[in-house]
Amino acid sequence: MRNMQGRVAFITGAASGIGLGLAQAFLEAGMKVVLADVRRAALEAAAAGLGPAAGRYHLMEVDVTDRAQMARAADEVVEVFGKVHVLCNNAGVGGITPMHEAGYEEWDWVLGVNLFGLINGVKSFLPKLRAHGEGAHILNTSSMAGLIPMPAPGGIYATSKFAARGFSDSLRIALAGSGVGVSVLCPGLVKTGMIQTGAELSPVAAGAQGATPFGAPPVNLFDAGVDPIVIGRRALQGIAANEAYILTHGEFRDELAEIFDEILAAFPPAPGPEAAARLAIENGRRQAVAAAKASLKQDG
Ligand code: NAI
Repeated sequence: MRNMQGRVAFITGAASGIGLGLAQAFLEAGMKVVLADVRRAALEAAAAGLGPAAGRYHLMEVDVTDRAQMARAADEVVEVFGKVHVLCNNAGVGGITPMHEAGYEEWDWVLGVNLFGLINGVKSFLPKLRAHGEGAHILNTSSMAGLIPMPAPGGIYATSKFAARGFSDSLRIALAGSGVGVSVLCPGLVKTGMIQTGAELSPVAAGAQGATPFGAPPVNLFDAGVDPIVIGRRALQGIAANEAYILTHGEFRDELAEIFDEILAAFPPAPGPEAAARLAIENGRRQAVAAAKASLKQDG
């Protein structure tokens, strides 16, 4: 998907923050964009700032946890713009209760949006992404919290974002050679309205005032974040190059290396000939993944 001009993207969670940054970057690049969000008023407010892109964007009120709505959204994108090339599963929310204390309602909400929202997006859109044969891409927004565990109260959020990363990695292999690339976007802090959105949408809203998946600090820690348009432009490059991981925050490198070192140190010694049958199975699996990765070079 090197040439993005005229391509059509569907972005969830596009009324604010990173989703809106993606929409702005895509419009800058000459794409057509459907901005989808569960918050209609916020969508309309966002559209007012989109400037001279009239006719190249379309607003849609969609709840990513509602499978019937997502199926209808996929039909509507094609009705409006004829095709769809890029699916951005970006809508996401943060739990605010420590994971060992949270009720099912909060688990269902966060996993419903942050994991099942992605699954619903792929189930609804994949046939349409493949139908035109022009190449397509799926961008899933995870987080650095999909690579690094979070202290309380970020456990529910990190659980959902690790799942989003695992989903993306495996989907990339599953779709290799099909012309549909998959990337996972893992930002650190981005300057967005996540706290306000959480307060508006959380089923445990009374506790959500001013709280974040990382705690309830005296200042809004997201204010220190990167501008969402920077993330949008970086994501666009990653989509065009079919990058597996789109990482945007260099400050996490050493911490991630420490986690991988800890995992590597936990391995027992490599098994000997007594494990031949097991090793044959694992080698077969590794070859299948390597073949899929090799075919990724032809995608796009
Ligand atoms: P945001 O709150 O500004 O944007 C999220 C959008 O998702 C909101 O407009 C909200 O209305 C929408 N949304 C929530 N539930 C929805 C549903 N059921 N259906 C449709 N739309 C829904 O927050 P932000 O930060 O832009 O979040 C976007 C994504 O980026 C999320 O997946 C978040 O987890 C992720 N992220 C954010 C980081 C940050 O520092 N802000 C860092 C790493 C990842």
